[in-house]
Amino acid sequence: MKFSIGIKSLFLQITSLLLTFVLLSFVSSAFKISFSLFSLLFLHACVAAFAAYLFEFDWWWWPIQFSFPLAAYFLSQFEISPYYYFIVLIIFSTLFWSTYRTQVPYFPSHSQLLAPILELVVDRKNLKLIDIGSGMGGLLINLSAKRSDGDFTGVEIAPLPWFVSIVRAAFLKSNVKFRLGDFYCKDFSEFDVVFCYLSPAAMPRVWEKVKREMVPGSLFLSYEFIVPFVAPDISVEVGFDGVYLYGWRI
Ligand SMILES: C[S@@+](CC[C@H](N)C(=O)[O-])C[C@H]1O[C@@H](n2cnc3c(N)ncnc32)[C@H](O)[C@@H]1O
Repeated sequence: MKFSIGIKSLFLQITSLLLTFVLLSFVSSAFKISFSLFSLLFLHACVAAFAAYLFEFDWWWWPIQFSFPLAAYFLSQFEISPYYYFIVLIIFSTLFWSTYRTQVPYFPSHSQLLAPILELVVDRKNLKLIDIGSGMGGLLINLSAKRSDGDFTGVEIAPLPWFVSIVRAAFLKSNVKFRLGDFYCKDFSEFDVVFCYLSPAAMPRVWEKVKREMVPGSLFLSYEFIVPFVAPDISVEVGFDGVYLYGWRI
């Protein structure tokens, strides 16, 4: 069975905590030394970070694994009601939902993206555009305000951003259709422009779907992340920070 990186990280945290606990209990009873909670969690942090290195996790997991037990220790010093932790858990779960599986967290695209997208679709009559992973819907709502003749759809897997997007659309009287679900279940052949802002990990599978389903004459756009080993037909720098909008003509 193949586990996602999120599940592996959780497993690594739990195992390293158990290992550290067993080790310190043994040392404590053998040498009659007592250890503070901080010593336990500090050693746990070191073991977890070292295990992440040993098991060849990407380098940014090492500091994450290290900081997690220490963050737990420092937060335990304040008398914070468990209800707050529960509320934070609910917010983060509904915001990041299946990131452990999709490997695409929520983060909004830059508003400067609007102009180059509008430019690329300016000649398309009966525009039908989908944002796969539409987040809180800002990009689509702004696009539809500028192209009132277009048909805009957003598909979002995480409940919280999807909910925010339908509330925003209702308040702003936008006619964008926001759907809660997995875009892999959506047929791309219905759209003449498919836009995404995902992550490097998602691009190979998305590209397979694009090749299978998108019809000749349609356009696939990806903000920031390129399809590996497939040269784009369009590259437009968005703003001045070296981030590009890429396009592939199908
Ligand atoms: C980086 S955000 C981009 C948000 C939005 N497109 C924008 O430009 O502001 C990526 C979004 O894709 C969503 N996502 C990831 N995988 C998905 C899937 N398989 N189906 C639907 N949404 C997905 C995530 O939940 C996240 O909200």
